[in-house]
Amino acid sequence: MNSYAQYSYPLFNQLPASLKVLYTMVLLIFGLGYIFAMVQVYEVHAGRDGKPGVSVQDIQIAYRGSNSGTRLESAINGPMSSMLPASESATIVSWLHTDMSEEAFNKEILPILETRCTACHDGSNPHIPNLTSFENVKTVTVVDTGVSVGTLVRVSHIHLFGLAFIFAFMGLIFSHAYVRRIWLKNVIIILPFAAIFLDVMSWWLTKVAEPFGYIIFASGALMGVSFAFQWCVSMYQLWFFKCPDDEVCVVP
Ligand code: HEC
Repeated sequence: MNSYAQYSYPLFNQLPASLKVLYTMVLLIFGLGYIFAMVQVYEVHAGRDGKPGVSVQDIQIAYRGSNSGTRLESAINGPMSSMLPASESATIVSWLHTDMSEEAFNKEILPILETRCTACHDGSNPHIPNLTSFENVKTVTVVDTGVSVGTLVRVSHIHLFGLAFIFAFMGLIFSHAYVRRIWLKNVIIILPFAAIFLDVMSWWLTKVAEPFGYIIFASGALMGVSFAFQWCVSMYQLWFFKCPDDEVCVVP
């Protein structure tokens, strides 16, 4: 690199005050935005697997659905199991595992529901599913296959554009940082973009193969660490950076 390029690019302490103030404001709002993004991720994914907190299992369920079958099956094996004898719950489960025809429903399933369930599930309470007819029961017999392709397309393009924009701005700010090793500085700038790519690709791949759920989890963590690192270094150097006496401080 020629000396002109080296000396023409300012470090944080050489920036005009207006730019320092602008960068500080951007960092503050980005930081707040990131915190809300984390809360959002938690709200959407925590506890899908029945355990508190966000785990790889929660992520896998979100993208590929739950293997435990339909809500109706989970309910009669779980919280509603005391409402009916085992033989009747076996009848319902075997219907769920066939083609779930309306004919078989009316003949075998509806009578069970009417005796055991509709005292509560008659539609009068909007918070619990209505089990009085085939049409109504359908809402609890859809197999959970995770997020739909349409939704994935939408959130993929929003995240790719949105996150690339955020990290482009973060990287531009961070480019004024004094980092002794140029390769390290470049790696820190590259990492979040690699993480965005891995993250979004793994959403799709998790639908096909479960283990990619781990990559979603890891790339999310990598993005967070990159963000925190660039944020802290930039904020610190913006206001407190002084060139150590024994160094020639230029942007490498
Ligand atoms: C005494 C009242 C009562 C009876 C009888 C009853 N349930 Fe429920 N059921 C509830 C309540 C209350 C909820 C909501 C709270 C919960 O999810 O535990 C619920 C929730 C459900 C859900 C939704 C679970 C979910 O995924 O949110 C299903 C499905 C269900 N019941 C099926 C049945 C079936 C099938 C029967 C009959 C074998 C039955 N219930 C009998 C009160 C009842």
